[in-house]
Parts: sequence; C-alpha cells; structure tokens
Amino acid sequence: MHTSFMPKIACIGAGNVGATVAQYCLELELGNVVLTDIVDGLPQGKALDMTEAGPIRNYSTCCIGTNDYKDIAGADIVVITAGLPRKPGMTRLDLLEKNGNIIAGICKEIKQHAPGAIVIMVTNPLDVMVGLAHATLGFPDNRVLGMAGCLDSARMRAFVAMELNVSMKNVDTMVLGSHGDAMVPLPQYTTVSGIPITELLPKERIDAIIARTRDGGGEIVRLLKTGSAYYAPAAGAARMVQAIVRNERQVLPCAALLKGAYGLHDIFMGVPCILGTNGVEEILTLDLSKEELEALHHSAQEVREGMDGLKQLGLL
Ligand code: LAC
Repeated sequence: MHTSFMPKIACIGAGNVGATVAQYCLELELGNVVLTDIVDGLPQGKALDMTEAGPIRNYSTCCIGTNDYKDIAGADIVVITAGLPRKPGMTRLDLLEKNGNIIAGICKEIKQHAPGAIVIMVTNPLDVMVGLAHATLGFPDNRVLGMAGCLDSARMRAFVAMELNVSMKNVDTMVLGSHGDAMVPLPQYTTVSGIPITELLPKERIDAIIARTRDGGGEIVRLLKTGSAYYAPAAGAARMVQAIVRNERQVLPCAALLKGAYGLHDIFMGVPCILGTNGVEEILTLDLSKEELEALHHSAQEVREGMDGLKQLGLL
C-alpha cells in the first residue's frame, strides 16, 4: 500500500455495479480508478464521462477506461464486479457456471498484473466466487475478501429506520453468513443509538424486517425486471475500499476465509472483520445463540454446495 501516494483502484467490470463503484471511489477521492471491461469503448466512455464530472462534483481523482489488463499493473485494490447479474426468477447459484468461468479468467490476469493487490469480490454467487478467487489467485488470506455483509446490513439498517421513522445514521446492524436466502441477520446486534431493536419493536415486525432483508436483492430484481441492484451494492464495495485505503480499522461484515472461527473451516462467508491496510486485519467472533450458530452453519452448507458445484465444473 502506497500510503503517501494516491492509491490505485482497479474496477473489473464496467457495468452498473462496477461503474458506480468507480464513481463513489472517485467522489470520495479514495484513489485513481482504472475501469476495465472486455467491451470495446464501454470503460473508456464511462471513465471519460466520470472524469468530466470531476470539475463539477469537485474531485481531482482521475479515471481511465481500458480493455487491457496491463493497465491494472500495480493496483493496490482490485474490485471485481464482472459477470452476469440475476434475471427475475434466477437464484444467485444459477449464475455459478457462467460467472465461475469469467472470474477464474479474471483472477489469472490479476495474479499476473497486480500480484500485490487486495481483491474485493462483488460478483455472485458471492461467497462461492470469492472462494474461487482465493484458490485461483493464491494470494494471502487477508488479501482476498467479498462484499455482501455491508450491503445486507445496509438494507437492514434502512428497513429498521423506515419502520421506526428514525435516522438511518442511528441504526447499526450485523448480517452474517452467505449472501443468499440463508443469510443470518442478527436482531440482538441491531441497535438504534445503542438501544436493541428487541426493545423497540415487537417480534413480528422484527421478523418481517429480517425476511425483507433476506429478500433484499430479489425485491430490487422484481422491480427493475431487467437487472439487479447496483447503488447499494456499489456503496458497500466503496465502503470497504475506504476502510482499507484509509486504514480505518472499521468493523464491517465481509466474506472472509474462516479457519475455525464459528466452528467453520476453509470456507468464505460473511463475518465481522476489522478492515485496514492489510485487508482483513482480524475476524471478530461474536457470542451467538445456539439457533444463530445453527443458522450460520446452514448458510455455510449453501456455500459448500456451490464450491462442490465448481469442482464438478472443473473450476476448482
Ligand atoms: C443483491 C445482488 C446484487 O443482493 O446480490 O442485490
């Protein structure tokens, strides 16, 4: 990490999520951005457009667009958003084969051109794709992580704030587990200015918020009809980039490699992490109830099935 220089952030994939990650990173002046995509002209056009927005939006970070992985050389952080989004009726696991091939190819390029980078996976099925990236890259465990807990927790924060008609800034939540139907929102770690929501809302309202959080991605897919969410997913990824490039040591739920925490081994899944210069600085172990721990293990089972799928496809 070049602490005294502007960090270099490579965004792989110039679709809605990748371009919005680039936009947020530029606006927060987190670093200069290299937007990469296989489609000729797409990253170049979006990068130029974002550069031209700089004088008005008041940022001096710059963005270039490219179809050539050589341009990511020396990147401090690589955010991978490339791949297909979900269409209505599709599960994240349906994406396994198509996105698995795309991610494996991209990781070979990253390994060659940006071997010192911290890699943040955004592509679905998230926990499986970050496991594939880790295996393909061969980078140290702390330098490979996945974005989903930030997104799922942000959605839950928004729903709690909407329910109680309070500021979203006052709400803290923690959503662990895989980024899918088996994610594990934790009401006992959900607070409004320190007050547990269990003291503010009846059980059925909390259950409804948990259900809406689990279905958060699907709700947007059904509304948009032709694509999936990108503002909040990109915000989650940019939040992680910020914590890393500014060495904030923020506690954020991220997909990280588990080596015994929560009784889980050799699997990537959402857990509270301290993020700093080295990527995942530490994984925090929360005191969970028996039911919550069971839910986490059920979530892990979903990820293992995805990893088995990758093995059958010859990608692992
Ligand atoms: C979502 C997709 C991106 O949760 O997984 O919106």
